[in-house]
Amino acid sequence: MVLVTGGAGYIGSHTTVELINAGYEVVIVDNFSNSDASSLEGIYGITGVKPTFIEANCCDREAMRRVFEAYDFASVIHFAAFKAVGESVEQPLKYYQNNMLSLLNILELMGEYGRQNIVFSSSATVYGDAEELPVTERTPRKPATSPYGNTKQMAEDILRDTVAANSSLRGIALRYFNPIGAHPTALIGELPRGVPNNLVPYITQTAAGVRECLSIFGDDYDTPDGSCLRDFIDIVDLARAHVVAIGRMVEDKNKERYEIFNVGTGRPVSVFELVNGFERSNNLKLNYRVAPRRAGDVMAVWADTTLANEELGWKAERELEDTLRSAWAWERHVRNI
Ligand code: UFG
Repeated sequence: MVLVTGGAGYIGSHTTVELINAGYEVVIVDNFSNSDASSLEGIYGITGVKPTFIEANCCDREAMRRVFEAYDFASVIHFAAFKAVGESVEQPLKYYQNNMLSLLNILELMGEYGRQNIVFSSSATVYGDAEELPVTERTPRKPATSPYGNTKQMAEDILRDTVAANSSLRGIALRYFNPIGAHPTALIGELPRGVPNNLVPYITQTAAGVRECLSIFGDDYDTPDGSCLRDFIDIVDLARAHVVAIGRMVEDKNKERYEIFNVGTGRPVSVFELVNGFERSNNLKLNYRVAPRRAGDVMAVWADTTLANEELGWKAERELEDTLRSAWAWERHVRNI
C-alpha cells in the first residue's frame, strides 16, 4: 500500500494510475488546493479502481496522524506542494509554510509509525543555470532563484538528513524536468487554474481559443534557434519512474538509503521545436509571437539520464509527437471540443 499526497493533482493522478496498474493499493490525501475531484473520477475510469481518498491538508498534523493510524502503507509518495514560481516570489511565506511543513509532518509521522519508504518530488530547478549540460545528479546545485526552488532544495536536504538519522528509512528524490502531456485515454491531465504559467498548457489553451496568442519568451538566447532548451518528459513516463522508485525500496534494491535520480528524456528540445511539433502532430496552426525573455528563465537545462536508466532500469519511452497529441486530446476533453 502506498500513500500518495497530492494524488488528485497532475503528476499525482498519473502516478496513482500507474501504481494501480502495477498492483499497488493507493491511499490518496489531497485538499484540492490546485486540483479537483474530477481527477479521481478519471483514475476510476482508467483503472476501474477507486483509490481510498481522504480530503486533508498535509500541513494539518492531526489529520495526517489519523491517516497514519488508519492505513498501513509502507511507502509514501509526497507530491503535495505549491509550485508556481512567480507566486512564490510574491508570497514566500506561503510557500515555505506549506511546502516545508507538509514534508516535516510526513517525515515525523513516518518515523513515529515505522513507515519505511518515501519518494519526494524534486525538480530540475535545483540545478539553476548549470555550468555543464546535460546535468547529472552530481552536477552542483546552484543557489535557488525563487522561494519555490528553495523549498525543493531544502526538502532534499531535510530528506537526506532524516534518512541519515533513521536507519529504517529510505528515500528517493526524483528531479523532474518538464512534465507535459496527458494520459492516452484523455481522462486525466493537467488542470491549471487561471492563466497557465507553463508552456504546454498555454499552447493547448491557445489552440482551443481560450488564449489569444502564445508568447514565446525570448528568441535571442545563445541556442541553435534562439529559444530556450528544455527536457520535456511525458507525464506517463514520469509517473512510471515513481512506481520503479517505490519497487526499488520495497524490494530492498536501493544502493544507498537516500538516492537522487534525474527524470527526463536526456534530449534538449527548444521552445520553437515544441511549438512546431505541436502544430505538426495535431495538424493545426497556433497563433504565436516572440516576446521578451521571461525573468528567471534559464537558457537551457536537460538531463543526463544514465543513472536512472542503469540503476532504476527506467527510461522515457513515449514519442514527443504522441505526448503532444495527448496534450491536445486532453484540452479538447476538458473544453468539450
Ligand atoms: N515559455 C514560453 N511561453 C509561455 C510559457 C513558457 O515561451 O507562455 C517558455 C519558457 O520561457 C521556457 C519554456 O517555455 O523557456 C518552458 O517554460 P515552463 O514554464 O513550461 O517551464 P520551466 O522550465 O520554466 O519550469 C519548470 C517547472 C518549474 C521549475 C522550473 C525551473 O515547471 O516547476 O522549471 O527549473 F521551477
